[in-house]
Amino acid sequence: LNYHVPRTRREILEVLIKGLHRLEYRGYDSAGVGIDGGNSKEWETNSKSIHLIKQTGKVKALDEEIHRQQDVDLDVEFDVHLGIAHTRWATHGAPSPVNSHPQRSDKNNEFIVIHNGIITNYKDLKKFLESKGYEFESETDTETIAKLVKYMYDNRESDAITFTTLVEQVTQGSAKSALFEHLMGISLHPSRRGGPLLIGVRSDHKLSTDHIPILYRSCDAVIEHTNRVIFLEDDDIAAVRDGRLSIHRIKRTAGDHPARAIQTLQMELQQIMKGNFSSFMQKEIFEQPESVVNTMRGRVNFENNTVILGGLKDHIKEIQRCRRLIMIACGTSYHAGVATRQVLEELTELPVMVELASDFLDRNTPVFRDDVCFFISQSGETADSLLALRYCKERGALTVGITNTVGSSISRETDCGVHINAGPEIGVASTKAYTSQFVALIMFALLMCDDRISVQPRRREIIQGLKVLPDLIKEVLSLDEEIQKLAAELYKQKSVLIMGRGYHYATCLEGALKIKEITYMHSEGILAGELKHGPLALVDKLMPVIMIIMRDHTYNKCQNALQQVVARQGRPIVICDKEDNETINNSSRTIKVPHCLDCLQGILSVIPLQMLSFHLAVLRGYDVDCPRNLAKSVTVE
Ligand code: G6P
Repeated sequence: LNYHVPRTRREILEVLIKGLHRLEYRGYDSAGVGIDGGNSKEWETNSKSIHLIKQTGKVKALDEEIHRQQDVDLDVEFDVHLGIAHTRWATHGAPSPVNSHPQRSDKNNEFIVIHNGIITNYKDLKKFLESKGYEFESETDTETIAKLVKYMYDNRESDAITFTTLVEQVTQGSAKSALFEHLMGISLHPSRRGGPLLIGVRSDHKLSTDHIPILYRSCDAVIEHTNRVIFLEDDDIAAVRDGRLSIHRIKRTAGDHPARAIQTLQMELQQIMKGNFSSFMQKEIFEQPESVVNTMRGRVNFENNTVILGGLKDHIKEIQRCRRLIMIACGTSYHAGVATRQVLEELTELPVMVELASDFLDRNTPVFRDDVCFFISQSGETADSLLALRYCKERGALTVGITNTVGSSISRETDCGVHINAGPEIGVASTKAYTSQFVALIMFALLMCDDRISVQPRRREIIQGLKVLPDLIKEVLSLDEEIQKLAAELYKQKSVLIMGRGYHYATCLEGALKIKEITYMHSEGILAGELKHGPLALVDKLMPVIMIIMRDHTYNKCQNALQQVVARQGRPIVICDKEDNETINNSSRTIKVPHCLDCLQGILSVIPLQMLSFHLAVLRGYDVDCPRNLAKSVTVE
């Protein structure tokens, strides 16, 4: 074997802490580890030997706490060892050590559990367990699992029944699923239900006692140990005993064999490192000239103006015949839908709806068999989008995923789709995923009309527009210093309004979301057409206003909006075409971006706002990659 096998508790904790650091962007209000305390023989007699160490705040705080612990001997060596670790994004119960995971069954730490998701029936379970004499210490729903395991284990007939019943109990009464990992003695039991759970394999041959399987919630944490992984399927239970891995099914049906292939991850460690940048967000903003190329690679042929999307080829005819297109998403991904709606309507001649997943579900929106529903999601795991996907599938619609994460729940559960191939996005505020989603949806629109003669000139124009896009993005990125200066003038403000219309309404929404997310300033994206119907009341000489005015079919209307703002003594900062002298001469402050085709210009107009939000957050002293109260992928409803 050419890798070092961690033997001491210190080394095991280092592996866990490193893994948590890689996952920190997904939740960082508290963290915890559970680590075993003896050799396998001792486990059977001494269940008290699990150590639990938990801390509020970021993973660094947990690491410091570990080194403060007096009673944990870090240099003890093991033959067989287990550890489990978790970073939390609080849903039930405030961030605190007692609410952090792992949660435990009792004061002896006999069973400890980490879990991702919400146990919707936890109140009933808790009431039942309390009636049996269990005392709860935390406010979390997860604690009910730990206590339920103990109850079931103490009343068990066999181990297998215990865990099967357990999974059924905690997922009962809700379509939503729970993922949990279980450390019991020397067995480790996870269930995938609802999120990718994978096992890192560091051996050349079949798993044996010498080889370490490591369980992870995500590729990011595994990649520095191995690129060989097993993805668990829904309802798989994986157990590790004495270094041996076995996979079981909760309910075994005929032909349902729990053999899982070892797959090789295409990811590189370097992709999830910051490099020379101060934050992942900044790195990702500056990656956009390459990430949009990666989205188009092998798909757009600029010589003969063709587009091929392998993930849609078997369904494109059916999509062309549909009644309407519905794009469903949350946050930034929703804005990518808003940004491309017009060009989709133009090129497909179909009605296009863009929906926020939560609202779409709240409304019980009618969906028909001849609808095509798109689920746009960077992570492919957002609970609201995933639930909307299942809702549409139940109604017989064709479902299409637009995701950045191969193997994610949305890419697996949709009928077909497009991976945007932007590379891992770590910064909580999404940037390169947005521009790549934008490009992916444009490619889809081009594909939809590739045999319609009347739109060929427009198709060619768009394809040639895509060709020059990377260079134009580079040009926009060169404005960074100028935007930093602007941020220095604005960072003490409480509020920023961003106005635009047509292709740039989405830019306003997205720019305002970026500012909200990482600077905690109030920011609103305003449709310039609605200005006179309310928002104009906010404008005075003190209110910071950013306007987007580009030379497209809304240009004259945008000029009117500019005049309306100036007439109220507003002094807007205008993002405009660098050759638009009229706007440049009429505005006190401009950010000049290169010109590109109308329906692609939104890719260029959003980047100054990404950079502005970044600089504002830095100047205000905030952690750009880990904004308070937010998580990268929200796997709860
Ligand atoms: C969270 C993130 C946002 C993201 C949204 C949708 O709220 O903080 O940045 O836009 O989820 O995520 P998705 O992975 O579905 O694109």
